[in-house]
Amino acid sequence: MSQKRKILVTSALPYANGSIHMGHLVEYLQTDIWVRFQKLRGHDCTYVCASDAHGTPIMLKARELGVPPEQLTQQISEEFVRDFSEFGVDFDNYYTTHSPENEALVSEIFTALRDKGDIYTRSIEQAFDEKEGMFLPDRFVRGTCPRCKSEDQYGDACEVCGATYTPADLLDPISVLSGSTPIKRESEHYFFKLSEYEERLRSWIDEATLDKSVVAKLDEWFEAGLRDWDISRDAPYFGFRIPGTDDKYFYVWLDAPVGYLASFRNLCDRRDDLNFDDYWAADSDAEVYHFIGKDIMYFHTLFWPAVLAGSGFRTPTSVFAHGFLTVNGQKMSKSRGTFINARAYLDNLNPSFLRYYYAAKLGPTIEDIDLNLEDFIARVNSDLVGKLINIASRCAGFISKRFDGRLADRLPDKDLFAEFADASETIATHYEGREYSKAMRLIMALADKANRYIDDHKPWVMIKDENAVSDVQLVCTQGLNMFRSLMIYLSPVIPDVAADARQYLSEDRWNWHDATSPLLNATLPKFTPLLTRVEPDSVQRMVDQSREIAEVPETQTEDDTISIDDFMKIDLRIARVKKAEPVEGADKLLALTLDVGESETQVFAGIKAAYDHESLIDRHVVVVANLAPRKMRFGVSEGMVLAAGPGGEDIFLISPDDGAKPGMRVK
Ligand code: 2FM
Ligand code: ZN
Repeated sequence: MSQKRKILVTSALPYANGSIHMGHLVEYLQTDIWVRFQKLRGHDCTYVCASDAHGTPIMLKARELGVPPEQLTQQISEEFVRDFSEFGVDFDNYYTTHSPENEALVSEIFTALRDKGDIYTRSIEQAFDEKEGMFLPDRFVRGTCPRCKSEDQYGDACEVCGATYTPADLLDPISVLSGSTPIKRESEHYFFKLSEYEERLRSWIDEATLDKSVVAKLDEWFEAGLRDWDISRDAPYFGFRIPGTDDKYFYVWLDAPVGYLASFRNLCDRRDDLNFDDYWAADSDAEVYHFIGKDIMYFHTLFWPAVLAGSGFRTPTSVFAHGFLTVNGQKMSKSRGTFINARAYLDNLNPSFLRYYYAAKLGPTIEDIDLNLEDFIARVNSDLVGKLINIASRCAGFISKRFDGRLADRLPDKDLFAEFADASETIATHYEGREYSKAMRLIMALADKANRYIDDHKPWVMIKDENAVSDVQLVCTQGLNMFRSLMIYLSPVIPDVAADARQYLSEDRWNWHDATSPLLNATLPKFTPLLTRVEPDSVQRMVDQSREIAEVPETQTEDDTISIDDFMKIDLRIARVKKAEPVEGADKLLALTLDVGESETQVFAGIKAAYDHESLIDRHVVVVANLAPRKMRFGVSEGMVLAAGPGGEDIFLISPDDGAKPGMRVK
């Protein structure tokens, strides 16, 4: 056997503010298959990952839910771990970027870069939300595209015409957080001199044997020129504070990849056989691979190797990027039920099916892959159940019923078995090169061959001929051995099914090379089918469940009640209607300006059919004063006026008794 390799593998760290869906799983399954393959080949392969816990979206989500971000990310990580493990994704360590190991490593890296002169500070101007008292990431500013004038576009790019720009270029910008117009404010930021690393990066790219599609992208970026990288963010921010500052934090994208190191260090601290420096010192002879999606190549192929090289660590051996997932040929969609999260899948279908389906589609490039649900049913039923499992089903019964479960002591067709054994290195090369679809095609072609062998020998006919009975044992031993080799080859892809098959074959463990020598003379138990067909109904149930999940508002609890804590969050106030006007172009709305005591609020209320606007002036109403502002077609609505009734003309504003004053809290 070739020399034992030391390999460290990572998948991108998922943000801990959502749930794992079919798109994520492309990457975790792709990586897990590769890691299992390396382990089966006998290499020391370690697979680490973690939750990406920092950044503005996570901070705001936690704020919205009224929980500390540490608690939110921990809860979500626990869900991730459950989902991953049920899909068979077998991390050696799953950690979090919000860890002491990560903070220490980030700080070590930052200090090394600063001492080397690769960090400098510069003042920059950014969008600032005065109401919220915070700088706004580009995605938190929306407005009109400066190029095509489409409304309600993000601060960094227009989804209509594809233009890219900065929030400062947007027309009529609005903060997504408060609905107010952001101002421009200066603040000092820390920059990493990426521009100094061009030469170093170019030689890394030559060494790293990246896929052609990745190199093409890198060439474009070099052509455009490498820009220094802003690695800091102002408070409030959920992250690590920059040493020596009070209110500056490391940008989440600096500490996220360092999370790979931190998760590995955390594992090394618990494992005597692993040494951090063996893998990460500048002169390490271990291999390090990052599996990522094509959208985060810039971070992993430019920033990350440069940061590592600059701070005295080794650079990754390679970065493996994959494409996006489409479902039924289109972007995943909540309303179509094709935004399928891991749980909806697991509630309805066997994870081995998806593992196989993705493997059958995956290659080493950044090309997108499609999960076509009809094709999924057909492919899994035909390949896994119809071809693969069928080999065993057709042979096992005869062995247990007619031969006391005993396999023959020889193979009747050694040449045929040799074909299965000889495929070993080609299949291994395909796995190594992440050419899983080629590996699956070759394995299924061999499965066809095995089935043809059984068809040709017809053990069900032979068994009726007394003189041929002993040949049935030979034919079935041949069949089961071909099945066994294929199961070993497939075990990185469908480990649970392979484990059941191994158990049936009464073997303790398999390594890759076991596929090349037959199992003879063994006594086997009764065979129970290892997989049953995918039923279209189960797929439909999964789609329906995904659609339902999309329709349930996030705050709704299962029994439709809200907790007292939820109720206490609602700030109900008395307001006086100061101004009430019809809204041009809106049939049902009145624009109300409300005096809520110390402040004024603008609310759009759907009460035009029920109330003449002038009659509302000076009337007291009850208003939800702390509703997050919503941008509507006609402007921003900052609250909600309480009313009762079925709608239309039958809407009755809830009016407090006399004596209520604007601003009073309603209890
Ligand atoms: O794009 C993302 O989902 C990031 N959370 C990936 C981080 S990968 C690594 F750099 F940590
Ligand atoms: Zn545009």
